[in-house]
Amino acid sequence: MDLTDKHVLITGGSAGIGMALAQEVVKRKGNVTIVARTVARLIDAKTQLEEQAQKLGTGSRIACQAVDVTDAAAVREALALAVRELGPVDLLICNAGSAKLGYFHELDLATFSQQMQVNYFGVLHVVHALYGDMVRRNQGHIVLVGSALSSFETTPHHVVRRQHVLGGNRRPRAKERGQLASASKAVTPDQAICVILM
Ligand SMILES: NC(=O)c1ccc[n+]([C@@H]2O[C@H](COP(=O)([O-])OP(=O)(O)OC[C@H]3O[C@@H](n4cnc5c(N)ncnc54)[C@H](OP(=O)(O)O)[C@@H]3O)[C@@H](O)[C@H]2O)c1
Repeated sequence: MDLTDKHVLITGGSAGIGMALAQEVVKRKGNVTIVARTVARLIDAKTQLEEQAQKLGTGSRIACQAVDVTDAAAVREALALAVRELGPVDLLICNAGSAKLGYFHELDLATFSQQMQVNYFGVLHVVHALYGDMVRRNQGHIVLVGSALSSFETTPHHVVRRQHVLGGNRRPRAKERGQLASASKAVTPDQAICVILM
């Protein structure tokens, strides 16, 4: 995928897999918005990406938005600002998330609720804020970063997240196929960099 001058928005882009993806986008001359909650870490990541872009001479523009993906209204506002800053989003990577593993009967209900808020509704809020614009533009790619565990269908929060935000691995309905240039993909973290960006 040619990312030159494309706007790639990565939730959870200030650390870990999200930051690694952002670095790959910069190498490919794309513009990046990274989204996360902690302002200091976001600014640090933005500075690193800008230094990388300068060193490589890619001309990439880097932006950041501090927002919690569990807050639908704040997400809509922050992503509108991101679009205003770097233009319409060409590639959305929903990567922000967390997991608390344990035996089902040993995890309290608050844990399930919190996981659903971040890993399911957090993804839904972000996709919902940008999907309409992609339909209108007849252009855009959406990637949902899940977990290898989703394949085994053992942890409810990952399974729900993968299968239901946009229908998971289902093929787009005919109406959507007519409108959209691309369908969404769900990839595991270990596959993310090579599948998405290679
Ligand atoms: N690493 C693995 O082995 C592994 C395995 C299975 C699945 N995954 C999935 O892969 C994704 C990335 O994992 P990772 O290990 O790279 O994670 P990580 O290093 O913990 O980084 C998580 C990123 O998401 C942000 N984030 C977390 N909660 C957020 C929220 N509510 N709103 C906005 N941003 C939020 C964090 O920043 P702030 O805390 O500042 O918000 C950070 O930028 C996650 O969805 C995770 O569930 C990872």
